[in-house]
Amino acid sequence: MSDVTNTTTPVMTTDNIFEVQNVTLRFGGVTSLNNVSLEQHRGEILAVIGPNGAGKTSLFNCLTGVYRPQEGIINFHAAKHGTVDLVGKQPHRICHMGVARTFQTSRMFNALTTFENIKIGVEASQKSGPIGAMLHLPRTRREERESDHRTLDLLELVGLTHRLNTMADSLPYGDRRRLEIARALGTNPEVLLLDEPAAGTNPSEKLALAELIRTINKETGTSILLIEHDMRLVMSLAERIYVLNFGEVIASGQPAQIQQNPEVVAAYLGATADEGDA
Ligand SMILES: Nc1ncnc2c1ncn2[C@@H]1O[C@H](COP(=O)(O)OP(=O)(O)O)[C@@H](O)[C@H]1O
Ligand SMILES: [Mg+2]
Repeated sequence: MSDVTNTTTPVMTTDNIFEVQNVTLRFGGVTSLNNVSLEQHRGEILAVIGPNGAGKTSLFNCLTGVYRPQEGIINFHAAKHGTVDLVGKQPHRICHMGVARTFQTSRMFNALTTFENIKIGVEASQKSGPIGAMLHLPRTRREERESDHRTLDLLELVGLTHRLNTMADSLPYGDRRRLEIARALGTNPEVLLLDEPAAGTNPSEKLALAELIRTINKETGTSILLIEHDMRLVMSLAERIYVLNFGEVIASGQPAQIQQNPEVVAAYLGATADEGDA
């Protein structure tokens, strides 16, 4: 900790990757996000939780340019590009800047293999276009080799090397979710947004996914922003948590603080704990 009492030392600001300030998103009469502010520290595993319809996916859609909030700013502090307000930016530009995501419901190219699905993610961040590919330009050939290597590295990272040639639609469900994560990592992101990555998986797949998310965070240094319903998973993975309810942030803090927050328990954890124990 820096010595803030020493007036000659400039006060250090925290190294944040995201600063969401006063974001409001409306659809007609429905307010999905109401004056939402949050920040994510660089390198952190941060979770956003809340009941169904709380606005979690809407927040991800604002961060990735799918929705444009009517109010607020979303500062992304990219190591590569400096600080950018993402509001109004196109999804593909945001992806290029270093923000990658997976979706709540699986979105794979089912008629492609595991390898090919990941390679698509890798190639999305490369420079050569279709013309370069047709002309077999040297840079294109080099990028092709690089993308093959990187795809193999990602397959290994997510533990799918043995499924290299399996068609995506024949993968077991837990492996599909791992494949989605690998494809998102292919774009070489600084922050990875995971929308309910463990939804629909069985208990052992959940544990393995939690381990994978931890490994990615540690080994690649990628910041992780996680939406997840499974409380055990969130509490064991997240360094900090924000709680959304009816589009508003009602609490934030470390897992232990969140678990004890009466408003959170009333809005969410109470109901979930009861259901879980039943
Ligand atoms: N494209 C849309 N059009 C209209 N309403 C939407 C749209 N997307 C989200 N909403 C509304 O925003 C609210 C929050 O939804 P969502 O962000 O999906 O919640 P969560 O992911 O927390 O379950 C819901 O009331 C939902 O109906
Ligand atoms: Mg959602």
